[in-house]
Parts: sequence; structure tokens; C-alpha cells
Amino acid sequence: MSRIRSALRRTALVTIGAAAVFGAAAGQAVAAPPPSDVGVQVIGGTRAAQGEFPFMVRLSMGCGGALYTPSIVLTAAHCVSGTGNNTSITATAGVVDLQSSSRITRRSTYVHQAPGYPNGDDWALIKLNSPITNLATLPIATSTAFDSGTFTVAGWGAATEGGGQQRFLLKANVPFISDTQCRSASGYSGLIAAEEICAGNWNSGGVDTCQGDSGGPMFRRNNNNAWVQVGITSWGIGCARPQAPGVYTQVSTFASAIASAAASLP
Ligand code: ARG
Repeated sequence: MSRIRSALRRTALVTIGAAAVFGAAAGQAVAAPPPSDVGVQVIGGTRAAQGEFPFMVRLSMGCGGALYTPSIVLTAAHCVSGTGNNTSITATAGVVDLQSSSRITRRSTYVHQAPGYPNGDDWALIKLNSPITNLATLPIATSTAFDSGTFTVAGWGAATEGGGQQRFLLKANVPFISDTQCRSASGYSGLIAAEEICAGNWNSGGVDTCQGDSGGPMFRRNNNNAWVQVGITSWGIGCARPQAPGVYTQVSTFASAIASAAASLP
């Protein structure tokens, strides 16, 4: 792991810490976006419709996640502090509006942080205190078959680089970027090709995930037109900059490790 990558991880953690403080100070009361923000977002996306991505979860430390099973959230390793019993995380689901009275909340009971993290392996599982049985889960890609094309990303993170967290879920489409091209970007030489997948508009930027979207899923349709998760929002240099893609944990690489960890969660 290069020093650049270490620095990036630290930056990500500091940002999450800030988001967590903000979340704690304001509770769920993330400020409503001013009218000028409507229609501009994740970065360069639009608002998701209620029920469009039922598997989306907002985590109280300021990250996203996806329902892997009714009682397990898949998120990023850099969003959690380690493996073990953990009752400190609140998961909010079932709504695009985090302030909606119909939101579903659960408390964490246990966290499994990928053992290889921080040398890659940016994934983690959070066990919930009771299952959320009425929401569709998001199956993960078990082969590289869907690790290309156009992906969808979603989250409540910043809608501009350095901007605030969002009250309403935002979504955007981002094209796949090859490992070779991604690695050629300034600051991306530490890219782990087998474990990470890049996406964004290479030439123009403008569409991306950003701080607070970490841990959320990157997904696309499979051959049956069902959503399948191919990535976990991990890192990037800034957000939505040209020639600085978003980097996502390559879920297919870890599919069997994720499945066996999920099967043995306490
Ligand atoms: N590490 C960030 C987080 O903690 C996610 C950054 C994603 N950046 C990007 N340019 N796609 O929320």
C-alpha cells in the first residue's frame, strides 16, 4: 500500500468523522437542500423516487450501505472502526427522505470489517438488531460479468465537492473506466486492479459519488433486468473532477468472502 493510498484513507476517515459529528449534532435533521440544489447532485445526478432503490441504507456515521440480507448491511470497511459487537450504529432505510416519519430504523449489533483492510478490502458487514423484512435486498455480483457498462450510484452524500450531506437520496449514472485508464490518473497509481473498479466521465467529470456516499452501492441491471451490486463507494481525488474517477470496491472479487462472513456473523 502506497503512502498516497494511506493518506487517502486517512482523509476519508477524517471526512467521515466530520459527517458523524454533523449527524450527531443535527440528529437526522440534515438540512433541506435550498431550491438551487434541487436537481444537481450525488454529483451531477437527480433525486431518486421513493421506492426506486429499496435496498439503500443511510448509516449514522455518515455513510451509505445496501441491504445484503434483511438483517445485514454491506458497506465500506473505512466506514467502520473494526470487527466486533457494536451497538453504536443506526441504520435508516425505506425512505428517500431521511426525515420522513415512515423511515425504518435499526440499531447495529455486530460489525465485520474485512480482515485485509486497509490494504484494499474496503468492505464491511453490519448486523442489524432485527431484520427489515419488507424491503428488497440487493444481490451482489458473483462474477465479473457485470463489471463494465454503465452503473448507477446513489447516496445522501455531498452534492458538490466540499458540500453538505443531503436530506433526499440522490442518484446518477456513471460509465465504467478501465483499470489501465484509471491508474493513469494523477493520484491513482495505488489502484488495486483486482479489487477496485473505477467509474465516471473521464474527459469531463461532472458526475460522481462524493464524501458521505462511501459504503453505498454501485449497481446495474443483470440479464434478467434485476439490480446487481458491482461496487461499494470507496474513494476518489476530490469529486467529479475530470480525469479523477470514483473508485469502488470490486464486489465480484469479494463475493465469496462476503457470503461466508455473512453466514458466520453472530
Ligand atoms: N471516501 C468518501 C467517503 O467517505 C467517498 C469518496 C468518493 N469519491 C469520489 N470521488 N467518488 O464518503
